[in-house]
Amino acid sequence: MFLNLIVSSFIASRLALAIPPPDFGFPEAPNHTELSVTYQDNGNPLIVTEAELFGVGIPAQEPAVAVETANYDSIAAYNGSYVLLMVDPDARYPSNPSLRFLLHWLQTDMTTTAESPDGTSQLVNSTAPRVPYLRPSPPTDSAAHRYIIYAFFQHENFTFPQAFEGYDATNRTNFNLTAFLDESKLGPRPAAAMYYFASNQTQVPQDYTAAAGGTYPGGNDGIITAGPGPSITPSTTSATATSSSTAASTSTARSTASASTSASTSGGASQTASGTGSAASASSTSGAVKTFAGSGSLLACLISLLNFI
Ligand SMILES: *[C@@H]1O[C@H](CO)[C@@H](O)[C@H](O)[C@H]1NC(C)=O
Ligand SMILES: *[C@@H]1O[C@H](CO)[C@@H](O)[C@H](O)[C@H]1NC(C)=O
Ligand SMILES: *[C@@H]1O[C@H](CO)[C@@H](O)[C@H](O)[C@H]1NC(C)=O
Ligand SMILES: *[C@@H]1O[C@H](CO)[C@@H](O)[C@H](O)[C@H]1NC(C)=O
Ligand SMILES: *[C@@H]1O[C@H](CO)[C@@H](O)[C@H](O)[C@H]1NC(C)=O
Ligand SMILES: *[C@@H]1O[C@H](CO)[C@@H](O)[C@H](O)[C@H]1NC(C)=O
Ligand SMILES: *[C@@H]1O[C@H](CO)[C@@H](O)[C@H](O)[C@H]1NC(C)=O
Repeated sequence: MFLNLIVSSFIASRLALAIPPPDFGFPEAPNHTELSVTYQDNGNPLIVTEAELFGVGIPAQEPAVAVETANYDSIAAYNGSYVLLMVDPDARYPSNPSLRFLLHWLQTDMTTTAESPDGTSQLVNSTAPRVPYLRPSPPTDSAAHRYIIYAFFQHENFTFPQAFEGYDATNRTNFNLTAFLDESKLGPRPAAAMYYFASNQTQVPQDYTAAAGGTYPGGNDGIITAGPGPSITPSTTSATATSSSTAASTSTARSTASASTSASTSGGASQTASGTGSAASASSTSGAVKTFAGSGSLLACLISLLNFI
């Protein structure tokens, strides 16, 4: 048992390196390679941090997206263009994601600008988006949805997959991400990723922002912060935080602007009222322990692990 705990903690700390958390069961950027995502909020930059929770008033305009050239060797070593994808795995409800994935954005041929002093290179589209950006708009009677933004290396032999040629703003629901990645040969590993939550529940102030682990009291019951969610395998254990993860908290600490905007825009809501820990750390830790203890997933877990060693 003691050995199990040690092994679990080891796996937890390794798994915490991927983004989004591996227990979600969606493609993950290895080595916690963050995609820099910045909305413009009335002229103020709103930098998205991992697992942040927003009210539905998150700016409707598409965010600026950048790769962090200075932080990641895999990004610095790459000169080509990128394919950008944003998906909602929780449509229409996290408890019944019958529309998974809802495709919020599909843009190929994103080229990079010269590295800025902050060590990032903006991704700029040189062609029209295949599927234009759609702001998060979860239903009012739904828990917060997850929104995942991916940048994939657009390798030199990339051709747009035939089966998705007819996709446009009318083909957003039930987007088969696996099929798209297979057919485009982009592969299962994004170059970089970021994710956040957004809620349109009426009790959640539209301009609400809370860093990872933050909750709106009574406002986001049913939010998925750990585990694969209902349509992949039924959840058998409830998620409980067992320890904190340094990888997750480091990444939260590294991000700056949005945390400071949150206090002033939370409409009097207390961010600490019901949050006790970090969702990012809770999810990666409990998820990994659960995966390790779970029956069928050990192999998948070890395979993910191999990617970091
Ligand atoms: C992850 O980081 C390690 C150490 O820096 C590096 O050797 C490895 O190639 C990286 N993996 C990927 C997929 O970028
Ligand atoms: C990337 O571009 C630079 C400058 O254009 C060049 O020196 C370098 O060889 C390129 N690297 C790759 C991997 O193509
Ligand atoms: C880039 O995308 C924006 C919308 O996201 C679009 O308005 C613009 O026309 C695109 N640029 C090119 C060169 O197609
Ligand atoms: C949020 O819900 C309200 C009430 O149904 C709706 O009017 C509004 O358009 C929704 N916001 C978004 C961004 O979907
Ligand atoms: C692209 O295709 C060429 C010719 O078939 C091949 O030599 C090259 O390795 C391919 N590159 C990638 C990244 O798949
Ligand atoms: C996308 O939606 C349009 C309009 O409903 C439809 O004509 C088209 O066939 C769809 N494309 C695909 C690839 O499903
Ligand atoms: C998505 O595509 C994959 C690979 O082509 C396929 O195995 C899977 O059944 C598809 N999923 C759905 C829901 O159609």
